[in-house]
Amino acid sequence: MTLSSYANFSLDRAAAGTLKSKLRDEILRRIRLGTLRPGDRLPPSRRLADDLAINRGTVSAVYDELVEGGVLTSHVGRGTFVSPEVSLDVLGPEGSAGDGYRWRDHFSDAEPWSRERALLAEAMARGGGGKISFAGLVPDEAFFPAETFRKALNDVLREEGSALLSYGPPNGHDGFLAFLRAYLSGQRGVAVSDEELLVVNGSQQALDLLGRAFLRPGDTVLVESPSYYGALEIFKGYGARFVTVPVDDEGMVVEEMEPVLARERPKLIYVMPTFQNPTGSCMSPERRDALVKLAVRYEIPLVEDDFDGELYYGDPPPPAVKAQPAARDVIYIGTPSKMLFPGLRIGWVAAPAPVIRRLSRMKQLSDLSGSQLLQAALARFARSGGLETHTARVRAAYGERVDRLLRALKRHMPAGVSWTRPRGGLSLLVALPAGADSSELLKAAADAGVVFTPGRLFFLNDGARYLRLSFGTVATDDVDEGVRRLARVIKQALGRGVRGPAGRDVALPPV
Ligand SMILES: Cc1ncc(COP(=O)(O)O)c(C=O)c1O
Repeated sequence: MTLSSYANFSLDRAAAGTLKSKLRDEILRRIRLGTLRPGDRLPPSRRLADDLAINRGTVSAVYDELVEGGVLTSHVGRGTFVSPEVSLDVLGPEGSAGDGYRWRDHFSDAEPWSRERALLAEAMARGGGGKISFAGLVPDEAFFPAETFRKALNDVLREEGSALLSYGPPNGHDGFLAFLRAYLSGQRGVAVSDEELLVVNGSQQALDLLGRAFLRPGDTVLVESPSYYGALEIFKGYGARFVTVPVDDEGMVVEEMEPVLARERPKLIYVMPTFQNPTGSCMSPERRDALVKLAVRYEIPLVEDDFDGELYYGDPPPPAVKAQPAARDVIYIGTPSKMLFPGLRIGWVAAPAPVIRRLSRMKQLSDLSGSQLLQAALARFARSGGLETHTARVRAAYGERVDRLLRALKRHMPAGVSWTRPRGGLSLLVALPAGADSSELLKAAADAGVVFTPGRLFFLNDGARYLRLSFGTVATDDVDEGVRRLARVIKQALGRGVRGPAGRDVALPPV
């Protein structure tokens, strides 16, 4: 058991009894419940005393008493352990003393949500309506082609009938796989066979399956800095540690990658080469080429997350990394969530057949099957031209929106604030002057009627001075007002004076 499991070791200070008796009861309770098992190590007394804000002597006295009673054993220099011979029947059955289950003591792991996620949820709930939200990387409902999609749904149900209402083939609906093969090779340059495709329930599920398939606790994952927090949290949940390579306006700085690979030998590389989340930056063809060469040379699985490659606002981006001839071992994931709508919960993985077989078996354990009905309807919708019409429409609309956003930032933001300039995707990253903390601004911003995603979510070490603005759900006419509100909150904070360590900067273009 790792020490982090003790993060929520807690004492009820309001209850009757001394701190010593409460700590003793807490340890006995954990052993009874099985969250501390025979042989598990207890935290060092100093660490536990600090965590619980109690005297170290109290912790030592409790440990000594339980060692004397045969519940714990102590080895000089190694620590204090639950005795391998502890007799659970001697401890009795009492759990919560009749107050109901204390659920957090039963969970296998620490809280999966970071502090910033909770802060963001709180900010979203603050102050009621009228808020302009730059927080979610979500496309605009106003553009969702509900009526055309309803027709596609009706058509496939009429034609394929009950077969669509059952569990389906493990890797996806046949008609959808055929569409997907054509789509990937036509739009993203990725040519694969059916054995190399798996349809999943949203590309988020693909990330989860990849974590489960490839990672053991302590394994290293190489990610961009900043990176998508939804991936970082999943990999963290599988026990990953991270090494990072910075991003500039040509994507991940692949030139800095080789020493990291040589030193750390990561188990997995996770990148978003096209319109990276959160910066929106797009990797140059030269870097794509170098990235594949390095991954292949070191034989490290490379995961390419191509979640929004279709949303470009000028020239199309380069073909996917997996499109290169040398990239047949790249594990490519994609989704209709950003270019179309996320409610389908459909995503896909294109990877070598052994990877697909492994992921497919894991997926079947987890959810038995995806929705045949929705996959068939999406294929029909796309084949009848709906997807093409829709992407053309949203490219124009988001292109105008991002222009407005860039102009509004220039107009309203105070000196010292800079931002990325994406040519696609639905977000950009803003950098505040060194020492500013966007998490601290969130509450004031919500009160002023605007929200954003705090930077700490995307960075592994610092990131406090950054924030992400997503423009997917902000009506074009609200963009200027949203930025004006945000700029006012930032100016107020800067006016109060912010100081602190600069940390390592993301190389943002000059404003
Ligand atoms: C980079 C990235 N990858 C994957 C996903 C998951 O999307 P979905 O599960 O809707 O396909 C998201 C969602 O925001 C994302 O930003």
